[in-house]
Amino acid sequence: MCGIVGSVSTKTNIIPILLNGLKTLEYRGYDSAGISYLKDGNLTINKVKGRVQDLENNIEKNSFSNIGIAHTRWATHGKVSETNAHPHNVGHITIVHNGIIENFNKLKHKLEEKGYQFKTQADTEIAAGLLDYYYKKYENIDKAIQKFMKKVDGSYAICMLIDNDPNTIYVIKKDSPLIIGQSQDVNYIASDVPAILKYTKNYYILEDYEYGKVTNNNIEIYNKEGNLLKKELKEYHGSDLTSDKGLYEHYMLKEIMEQNTTIRKTINPYINNIKDLLKMPDLTKYERIDIIACGTAMHAGLIAKYLFEQYTNTKCEVFLASEYRYQNNFLNNKVLSIFISQSGETADTLAALKKVKEENCDSLGIVNVKESSIARAIDKVLYTEAGTEIAVASTKAYTAQVALLSVLVLAHAYRTKSIKEEKILNILEEFRSITSILNPILEDTKTYENIAKEIYEKNDVFYIGRGLDYALAMEGSLKLKEISYIHSEAYAAGELKHGTISLITKDTPVFSSATNKHINTKTISNLKEVISRGAKCYLITDEDIKDDNIKVIKIKKVSMFLKPLLTIIPYQLIAYYTAKLKGCDIDKPRNLAKSVTVE
Ligand code: M6R
Repeated sequence: MCGIVGSVSTKTNIIPILLNGLKTLEYRGYDSAGISYLKDGNLTINKVKGRVQDLENNIEKNSFSNIGIAHTRWATHGKVSETNAHPHNVGHITIVHNGIIENFNKLKHKLEEKGYQFKTQADTEIAAGLLDYYYKKYENIDKAIQKFMKKVDGSYAICMLIDNDPNTIYVIKKDSPLIIGQSQDVNYIASDVPAILKYTKNYYILEDYEYGKVTNNNIEIYNKEGNLLKKELKEYHGSDLTSDKGLYEHYMLKEIMEQNTTIRKTINPYINNIKDLLKMPDLTKYERIDIIACGTAMHAGLIAKYLFEQYTNTKCEVFLASEYRYQNNFLNNKVLSIFISQSGETADTLAALKKVKEENCDSLGIVNVKESSIARAIDKVLYTEAGTEIAVASTKAYTAQVALLSVLVLAHAYRTKSIKEEKILNILEEFRSITSILNPILEDTKTYENIAKEIYEKNDVFYIGRGLDYALAMEGSLKLKEISYIHSEAYAAGELKHGTISLITKDTPVFSSATNKHINTKTISNLKEVISRGAKCYLITDEDIKDDNIKVIKIKKVSMFLKPLLTIIPYQLIAYYTAKLKGCDIDKPRNLAKSVTVE
């Protein structure tokens, strides 16, 4: 989603720094890009609808500046266009902005009454107008920013240039991440640490309602009352974004193929012997576990719910973060809230976490990006070691989340003695053999390519399952629709006949998995129901099922703690090959962003 980069130097040309920063953030998804810099008191703004490369091509060769800001935009207010792209300039003020100004309409009318005229549909232009209004009114930038924070509702990370103040970049923050990087003679601003990692690992984090002034050799951060703060300089310890596609045509395929390594790396510290499980947080004091997340991360939470309830007799609820933040959550100190997020920046998940923290209840994060906003804000964090995930469709982050959560449940089962030690030892042995278990599934690409050929021209595809297999159906369906644009839906296998079965006609593809011997026959019966209505069925299972009307993808028999990891891979690869046949932009599907930083 939207990305911010800013830089101010003594002698260094900051234009390549800004462009490089934007390129680092590209994988997160955007639709337009822009840059603004000052040179000898003159302000240049350059914006494009399209890629950062187009922006770079648009900038005059040999351009030079010591101070500038840049942005990649993912449209919220106003269509995708060059005009709506950032930076926005009003009067003396030029800004780039991540977030949403919720009361922008009201502010717009007030500013229009004062004589302001706006050229775009973007809420950011109104923010620039308001800052300009207060800057002129008070002739004091601190007062202007403080007043701005009082008047604006919504979220903002703002990076600002003032045309008659050529040595300082101003930053303002609420509910949208912003950091200030520090190095010798050059300072940086970014929405995300990776954007500046090439230049420095040292940075300050801005908290809500803080603002800052950044020059080439000085960084000052203030609270909303205008008091200068003493902030801690942090050092980044995560990996940088040097990952490339290698021999793979797409990041998504590369990321699917590296899952045996990423799963192993994630769970390695906990599986070598049974006592290693005790390195996992002790959950025994909690009566209920809540899991809060969005999209694929929420689907990983559903797997954990099943395992917690089935194997440790612990009540577990799973919530979409976007719903959780506006509902009554019945929290108390016997509830542990687990937040799952690949990026650690998802706005709804972060807001839900803030709600739990306000209630003084315990929180645990399952996060992939080190030192991301969620990782920083949460009580305790367990990192997945999926490495950088570039493709918008989450694959290796999902399996890393599922694996880590499964081991967390196993540790809880060990502490509560709800699973016999001997069984736990067997499961740990299976986890240690995960590479050899997954490899045959990953290598069976011909099977998935052939299935893709059968479905890529279809309009509708259905996924069904029961229990764990229902959670997997939801993830399989999401993978297919987000990258191939084929409409797909996931249903609990027993629910189809309560309405949706009317959509099944001749050759409608129906995918299913049956990995639970106690309920597999029920799922197969549901497949029979759709077969009688013409559906073409595909089944992932560890059982010996032979049926002329069902195409079976056989997986190895393993414990329930590992089954989701095996079952999801065919779904991921079928989605991938289907999107490829359709010629879709697999790594950057339309309308989507890698990290969803608006509500
Ligand atoms: O970074 P997060 O894990 O918090 O992201 C959550 C969802 O936005 C994400 O899983 C999304 O659904 C992916 N596009 C799924 O492939």
